Amino acid sequence: KKSVRDVEVSGKRVFVRVDFNVPMQDGQITDDTRIRETLPTVKYLIENGAKVILASHLGRPKGQVNEDMRLTLPAKRLGELLGKEVAKADEAVGEAVKAQVNAMNNGDVLVLENVRFYPGEEKNDPELAKQFAELADLFVNDAFGAAHRAHASTEGIAHHLPAVSGLLMEKELSVLGKALSNPERPFTAIIGGSKVKDKIDVIDNLLNIADNVLIGGGLAYTFFKAQGHEIGKSLLDDSKLDVALGFIEKAKKLGKNFVLPVDVIVADDFSADANHKAVDIDSIPADWEGLDIGPKTRAKYAEIIKNSKLVVWNGPMGVFEIDTFANGTKEVAEACATTSGYTIIGGGDSAAATEKFNLASKMDHISTGGGASLEFMEGKALPGVVALNDK
Ligand code: 3PG
Repeated sequence: KKSVRDVEVSGKRVFVRVDFNVPMQDGQITDDTRIRETLPTVKYLIENGAKVILASHLGRPKGQVNEDMRLTLPAKRLGELLGKEVAKADEAVGEAVKAQVNAMNNGDVLVLENVRFYPGEEKNDPELAKQFAELADLFVNDAFGAAHRAHASTEGIAHHLPAVSGLLMEKELSVLGKALSNPERPFTAIIGGSKVKDKIDVIDNLLNIADNVLIGGGLAYTFFKAQGHEIGKSLLDDSKLDVALGFIEKAKKLGKNFVLPVDVIVADDFSADANHKAVDIDSIPADWEGLDIGPKTRAKYAEIIKNSKLVVWNGPMGVFEIDTFANGTKEVAEACATTSGYTIIGGGDSAAATEKFNLASKMDHISTGGGASLEFMEGKALPGVVALNDK
């Protein structure tokens, strides 16, 4: 795929799709990682004399203007990070925006309003895509985090303009792509999270590629149940018992090391001050629920991670938002931070966990994609990437 470095940008109006879908609380951005990660592309374009038009979604406003989801704050933060004036439009298309773009000088930056204020965005309406395209001479997709969405500003627009990837997009695709297509071994994948159904495809694909697949989080209990264990009030996806057994079979057939927790932390309530204890998985009390992996499992997983050349981690090991049940996720994060192997954190909750434990800087790559990195690891093509180079 071509990147922004492979094309002439000087004097051009460049429509850059970024993922400024940052977490916000009480009118404040609580994590600006996604904005900081776009700086290489934005700076490159500024330094090379482009007119930089940035577009993003924020939240899920469902095709309507939502005052809490304007891009005003992300635009302001970008200005602070660049140390440069960043203009903000009140809309994403239309005459007023066109006039603002026409008035831009080379090196200027304009942030458009939330593209999801328009119903056509998520419908990938060709008309809206055309309106976006009319604002620019070149499309740069730097929104890896939204690349799994076939929307007007991620996919549709690429059919109307020369379309290339931005530097963040390029980095994400190269790191994740190399890891999965030509992994250093031993390659360990750690899959956690609460729901089996969300992780079926990723477990399936990584079983083909990795040497070790370690399972944690709420989804583990469906495996225990499938093996005939009492799981008490733990999370269960009753319709996926066969799928769970199928993975154990598949691992055996492929000679892969598919590792389930050997012990867990159970509690008599889903709260910080619940009674809790570590038990082996054949001793889960009938009226308790499992909320984290236990100490034996933590030690076992840490050892495997320490001996790996490549680690890919997606999904927490327990309810890490509550300190009582955070140890499993924390020790996996620490093992990833200290292993000499290359560590890739697959975005979303695992990325938030590494932030929470102040270990983010110790990881080799933290993806800016949540759903996007998951779909990538499932082996799926991302529509926002496929559309590049179309013209
Ligand atoms: C994300 O946060 O994963 C991306 O920004 C995509 O957001 P979405 O799930 O609302 O499409």
